Amino acid sequence: FEIVIETLTIKTTRTDHSRLAELDKTNLPFGKYFTDHMFVADYEDGEWKNFAIVPYGPIPMSPASSVIHYGQTIFEGLKAYRQADGSVSVFRAGKNLERMNKSAVRMAMPTLPEEIFMQGLAALIDIDRAWVPDIENYSLYIRPTMFATDAFLGVRPSLTYKFMILMSPSAPYYSKPLKVKIETKYTRSVDGGVGAAKTAGNYAMAMLPTVKAHEEGFDQLIWTDAKEHKYVEESGAANLMFVVDGKILTPEVRETILDGVTRDTVIQLAKSTGYEVEERRVSIHEVLEYAESGRLTEAFAVGTAATITQIYEMNYEGKAYPLTDLSTRTVSNGILAKLNQIRYGLTADEFGWNW
Ligand code: COI
Repeated sequence: FEIVIETLTIKTTRTDHSRLAELDKTNLPFGKYFTDHMFVADYEDGEWKNFAIVPYGPIPMSPASSVIHYGQTIFEGLKAYRQADGSVSVFRAGKNLERMNKSAVRMAMPTLPEEIFMQGLAALIDIDRAWVPDIENYSLYIRPTMFATDAFLGVRPSLTYKFMILMSPSAPYYSKPLKVKIETKYTRSVDGGVGAAKTAGNYAMAMLPTVKAHEEGFDQLIWTDAKEHKYVEESGAANLMFVVDGKILTPEVRETILDGVTRDTVIQLAKSTGYEVEERRVSIHEVLEYAESGRLTEAFAVGTAATITQIYEMNYEGKAYPLTDLSTRTVSNGILAKLNQIRYGLTADEFGWNW
């Protein structure tokens, strides 16, 4: 993936009061603190314009903005890492742009040209590069977002949009391994729906089932297909992987499953390490059978925010399935170690993922 940067004129207004000195760099809950600046652009009259870096802060919007009423909005998540040599590298940004544009098409929104996404991102990171954490496992989480801004209550795609990039120095999303409930009542996504798009509604509809799972003592859910609740799909806001008989088994990407960048990264690293990877529909009963017979040696969630988060217990219709001891998870821990080496610039980037 090559980045062609044409000249984009970005009007830059620096903050007159950096908040960096007030930040406790050793305590950065995921997504809580934001850097001094943000990148913004507007879509009007069929084109993107008003490229600007401005101090992070409230944005004016009409109470009739169609995003508030009808939810026409998409986002991405990617990360920048402090490299061993002190420089800053963004991980697989091109993949996120690609997916953002797929989400845009599904949600009847305009796509973003590469130079706006990449150059806006580069300029923003450059101005706030001191915010990139240098603590192990921490990173600068980057949140590009596009939303509908027409002040109009008729139901149709908005004619105007705002694009923004926010950045949040963060610890990993999960601070501990997960006990998960296989969800068989509620559904995240349906055939013909928007499950493969990174759009707000997919996260909004997950809130109630997730709160209920928390109340029942679980950390997170495993979503199953809408039709039969027979196949596993994702876990929370991340993809799902298993190790069975030494092979990686993961639900294949389809229109109900988000095409995760970390999912793809883990698959590529696994294959290059010599592991076999099977991508297909995975039934609940198959997974539970593997768990009971001891063939299932690892289960974990993979996502940009989550990275690789271990699952230590699954629960299906009231029955607990405790999984293997976390210290035995050599496949996922080995891949995670490799991934960290690349992300933090500690080894050669043979895949060309760092920018
Ligand atoms: C990500 O992994 O980047 C996500 O978007 C998940 C999330 C925190 C919503």
